[in-house]
Amino acid sequence: MRRLNVCVLGPAALIITAIAIALTPMTSNAAEPVAGSRLPALESSTSASADDATCEISDAAITWGIKESLRSYISGTIANGEWAVSDGATYETPNFGWSTGSGVLDAGEGVIAFDGALRFTGHDGILDTTLSSLELSFDGSTTAHLIFDVSGTTQDGNPVDETGVEFADINIAGIAVTDGRATLNDAPVVLTETGSAAFGTYPAGEALDPITVNFSATESCMPAPKEAVTALARNTAVIVTVGVVVAAGGLVFYVARRRGTKREPTTK
Ligand code: HEM
Repeated sequence: MRRLNVCVLGPAALIITAIAIALTPMTSNAAEPVAGSRLPALESSTSASADDATCEISDAAITWGIKESLRSYISGTIANGEWAVSDGATYETPNFGWSTGSGVLDAGEGVIAFDGALRFTGHDGILDTTLSSLELSFDGSTTAHLIFDVSGTTQDGNPVDETGVEFADINIAGIAVTDGRATLNDAPVVLTETGSAAFGTYPAGEALDPITVNFSATESCMPAPKEAVTALARNTAVIVTVGVVVAAGGLVFYVARRRGTKREPTTK
């Protein structure tokens, strides 16, 4: 009986450990909803317990041309249009500008909001699209999000009036904090599915103009972003871990049983 306990308890403990590992949420870069953000909650968060990991930001600035070909089209002879900036947004060829963006960053996660609206018009008013209430959302990963309220008419003539559209993704792998300022220069930007649907012309994944962002920050509130852990990578890691532990448990069980059998006194 005692021998049986040793044989069974060892592998059982290993299997329980494997299950515990499998059920433990892995650290991911996905964010909790941030107060004031329009983003839905993502699945889990990197914890940020230290207060010094939090920065209140009020001086963020963005320069971004949206898309060079769009500006050429609007201002050219086809659309014969223009754009107007208001509520704090600016335009200086070839970039739109947003300044005094404010928000809170906590260990690389948070939202910075900007005032300002861009209105594109053309084709004698048939083309009329406004992008406003820009937010820059960070989740600790190398992909940040540009969120806009979008209103107007798509190329197909469908009316659009949506708030908090996750419009474009920015690759922020190159963001760096130097002398108290986070700086991201000419980072790649692509249109998202929802941005494509709201804008109504370019497909998702379309490259937009590179973006430049900067704001006051410390290395604690804006640490180097991490590659997001994909669901596939996480599930693969869990399956491999469980497999290895179960195999090890089986081996221990097998060896223990063989030893136990050898020690069994022979009865005559
Ligand atoms: C009278 C109606 C319209 C006409 C005749 C028209 C015509 C055109 C043409 C000919 C192009 C190709 C331009 C090029 O390749 O250089 C174009 C592109 C485009 N149109 Fe329109 N369009 C109309 C309405 C609209 C509307 C309502 C929108 C609203 C969003 C729109 C947005 C665009 C965009 C974003 C492009 C792509 C620009 C680029 O990046 O090259 N158009 N349109």
